[in-house]
Parts: sequence; C-alpha cells; structure tokens
Amino acid sequence: MEWGVDVFLEIISVNKSYQSKSVKQDVLKGVNLQMDEGSIGVILGPSGSGKSTLMNIIGGVDRADNGKVIVNGIEVSSLKDDKLTDYRRDSIGFVFQYYNLIPNLNVWENVEIVSNISKNPLDIDKVLAAVGLASMKNRFPRELSGGEQQRVAIARAIVKNPKLMLCDEPTGALDYETSKEVLKLLQQINKDFGTTILMITHNAGIAEMSNRVFKLRSGEIIEAHDNLEPLPAERIEW
Ligand SMILES: Nc1ncnc2c1ncn2[C@@H]1O[C@H](COP(=O)(O)OP(=O)(O)OP(=O)(O)O)[C@@H](O)[C@H]1O
Ligand SMILES: [Mg+2]
Repeated sequence: MEWGVDVFLEIISVNKSYQSKSVKQDVLKGVNLQMDEGSIGVILGPSGSGKSTLMNIIGGVDRADNGKVIVNGIEVSSLKDDKLTDYRRDSIGFVFQYYNLIPNLNVWENVEIVSNISKNPLDIDKVLAAVGLASMKNRFPRELSGGEQQRVAIARAIVKNPKLMLCDEPTGALDYETSKEVLKLLQQINKDFGTTILMITHNAGIAEMSNRVFKLRSGEIIEAHDNLEPLPAERIEW
C-alpha cells in the first residue's frame, strides 16, 4: 500500500472491545483517521466514547483487536512487545490531565529522568526555557501552580524530541486563563519543533486551534473536518 508523502498518522479500521465478566463492550468500532506531519489534531467526544482508548492504542500503551495503526511509517499495530516499548519511549510524548510528576524530584529532575532514557534528548535547560520554567527549575511539584505543573509535564514530553505528542485532556484540570497559556505553549511547540500533536478534549472551543477535528461518538468517528485557518490559542474562546 502507498501512503501520501505527508501522512504521518494513519488508523485503518481499528476495533477494540473489552470483555468484563460475561459482557463484551465494543469500545472502538472501525475507526479510521489520518493526520499530516506537523499538524495539530483534536478528538472531541463525550465521556466513554473511546477517546483515551484510541489514544492509548496510538501511543502503544494498548493494542487494537484488529486494524492498522501506522505512525511515521512504523506499523505500530504489528510490533512485538519489545519494539512497541521502544516506539513508545522514542517516538511518543504523553501529557495527561493530571500531571503525573514525581513529587520528590524537582522540576529539572522530573525532566531529567525522561531525558536519561531518551535516544536523542533535547537540552533540558533549553526545554525548560521553552516552557517558561527556567527560573523554577529547582522547585518541587508541590511548590508549583497547576499550570506550572502542566508545563513541567509538557517539558518532560518534549525533552525526548518525540515525533508525536499525545495529550489527553491537557487543560482538563486548569482554569480558563491557565488553559489558554498551556494551549499557547502546545501551539508554540508544534511550530518550533514541528511536533505533530493529537489532543483529546471535551471542549469544542479548543478544536478551533487545530488543523483537523475528529468527532468520536460511541466508538465511531462520526465527523472529521479540516480547519483551513486554525486560530492562535490566545484567540479561541469557550
Ligand atoms: N481497561 C478497560 N477494561 C474494561 N473497559 C474499559 C477499559 N478501558 C476503558 N474501558 C471502557 O471503554 C469505554 C471507553 O473508555 P475511554 O476511557 O476510552 O473513554 P473516554 O472517551 O476517554 O472517556 P472520558 O472522556 O471520560 O475520559 C468506557 O465505557 C470504559 O468503561
Ligand atoms: Mg478519557
């Protein structure tokens, strides 16, 4: 099969179900999705529609039952476990709603532990400067606001210079102004580092800063559309 030159992420007919006791739940039902290299994509959908499941499959944290996941020419869906671990470590930066920082490490060290296991890490101080935390590098997570903690989490995701950043409700725990700051930062990273970003949100306003929007409902993509002129994060409202 031939891929378009700039297709970076391709999901073809992905199905996933979970079996609990006697009940089988179909969580993803034939999902197809494409993203170009260097673009920002947003997945919108209600709670339980399968957003995190889909993201986990793209990130190599979980596996599809069938279908294909291709990221940057790597057929993720057919990787053996050890190669899947390499893929996850080398190619993917994760950012979650709750920042998952290590409480007894300071800002610099939280970023360093990821840098240490990365193949081609970026310079830690440069990354901290890029996320606006250069002056806070000796602080511990408990000494930071929610927005600052999310910046550390973003620094930790980008220090490994990932090809793809997967953000699951990155502003879900933040207030309006802080959310905008974090979204501005993600847009800046996309521009400066060329990182492709796929973001999950409940918030339709956030979709306006993306290049492509996917609406997921009960495990199916019910709509996908392009924004020809994505808005700068500071101009989106919700
Ligand atoms: N490991 C699992 N075992 C069994 N069921 C699961 C598992 N993970 C997810 N599910 C079920 O799959 C469905 C989709 O879950 P998922 O976490 O992908 O939803 P979501 O769209 O991310 O929702 P939210 O917006 O609340 O985070 C839910 O009904 C959930 O209960
Ligand atoms: Mg979720």
